[in-house]
Amino acid sequence: MKNTEKRKCDDFFDKIEKLGLALSYNDVRLKTGYSQILPANAKLQAKFSRNVGFLNIPIVSAPMDTVTEADMAIALAKIGGLGIIHKGLSPQNQASAVEKVKHNLSAFIYEPICINPNQTVAEVLAFIERKNYRFLSFPVLNNSGKLMGTVVKSNFEFCLDNSAKISDIMLKEIISAEAGTTVEQAYKIMMQKRVKILPILDKNKKFKGIYTLSDVRRIVKGHSPDYNISSDGTLKAGAAIGVGEDTRQRMELLAKAKVDVVVIDTAHGDSKAVIEAVKFCKKTYPKIDVVAGNVSEAESAKRLAEAGADGVKVGQGPGSICTTRIIAGVGCPQVTAVYNCAKALRGYGVPVCADGGIEYSGDITIALSAGADCVMLGKLLAGTTESPGEIIYRHDKKQVKVYRGMGSLGAMIDNKASRERYGQAESAENKLVPEGIESEVDYKGDVSFIIYQLLGGLRSGMGYCGAETISELQKKADFYRLTPSGVKESHPHGLEQIKKSPNY
Ligand code: XMP
Repeated sequence: MKNTEKRKCDDFFDKIEKLGLALSYNDVRLKTGYSQILPANAKLQAKFSRNVGFLNIPIVSAPMDTVTEADMAIALAKIGGLGIIHKGLSPQNQASAVEKVKHNLSAFIYEPICINPNQTVAEVLAFIERKNYRFLSFPVLNNSGKLMGTVVKSNFEFCLDNSAKISDIMLKEIISAEAGTTVEQAYKIMMQKRVKILPILDKNKKFKGIYTLSDVRRIVKGHSPDYNISSDGTLKAGAAIGVGEDTRQRMELLAKAKVDVVVIDTAHGDSKAVIEAVKFCKKTYPKIDVVAGNVSEAESAKRLAEAGADGVKVGQGPGSICTTRIIAGVGCPQVTAVYNCAKALRGYGVPVCADGGIEYSGDITIALSAGADCVMLGKLLAGTTESPGEIIYRHDKKQVKVYRGMGSLGAMIDNKASRERYGQAESAENKLVPEGIESEVDYKGDVSFIIYQLLGGLRSGMGYCGAETISELQKKADFYRLTPSGVKESHPHGLEQIKKSPNY
């Protein structure tokens, strides 16, 4: 297929190529231009894969074990983005995580956090604080899993003695409903009986889960237009697969869980195994979109598109935790890689996702301007409430969470899928050659707060470039190549930052 239209930045990248140079985010800034676009009016709809429809924001979370499991995927889909659940989970657990996302809007919680009647109020409050839970409604189950009562916020509020047992403060009158109760029926019961949680029991009175009033009310009253919703009314969810022996089983379970898109997540996407995996997935599951990667060269992107990929993920070594460029000595700097791959795919209708190396919101504007349709984030979403892992309280009182590369030694030891990503599935523990590091990042609060800042920066950039939509940005954007003093001038300089800024 032919590359159709010429874009404003083509001349810039042609010149750079003639010089034999390749550029990364810090090497460039965008030209400003005449604008009638106010940042608030910028439209952020974007594509990650051919058929999955528009995301409401161009942000996808990385399939990493310290970034995306169900909670992140739910939170992101509710802001309009997409979460890709990592493949370090067993095929069954990964499929359950997808199901959790898919069931979220049914407001039914299958595996709620439960407490025991013999726990003290103090123990439960400490547990809530440790886990950073924002809710205070729990079903109370005894050691055999039998529902004994419920507690809600007011039970804690009116408790004068925190050494009291949960059985002393809980609501013992059990108002429950049968399995199969719909969200509308649950809402009616909860309003009539004035209860904030409604336990669901099966015919044998076995506890199956709960409805909570806040979720039920949200659904019944209609959900936000920001939500990224599939045609069946569920939140969209993605999942990573590899090219190893469990790929078929993973795909089967993910398909049953109604995953919207799978990502063939490898360090080197331009390989026989990935191309065969794309063909297998498209042939066996034609209704599920397949995004393949990672690549960083034009020819590689084309090969994946021609094999049938519905999206191509670009980035070999730009990630914050990556050491591929240093350990293997390979990989094209990210802005050039994104430009070359996106240019090669013009006319194919196959979106490009710029994966890795995004440090600031301005890098998102740059990635999209270079031709990406959306970006994938690891570090920026790690350390949030919704990322997997506990908050660690350090000696210096800092709160941090672990963020590690899927090719780090720890990740490779912990899961085979990580070893596979780097072609070391069968290597013994002491023979692993990592291509990533293990790190920690500050605990940042809810992911919605981070995304708000990132989108604010992107909107502002679109305003400066006079682009109302992402496709307009791709057409209109043009670049400057920075010198070292340009880089220095771009950041605050000549003074010390005395207060933390939410976006720098
Ligand atoms: P950021 O910069 O957002 O990058 O933290 C996330 C992306 O980095 C990739 N990734 C790795 N690359 N070694 C690598 O070379 C690794 O251990 C590793 N783990 C993740 C991945 O593409 C992710 O989306």
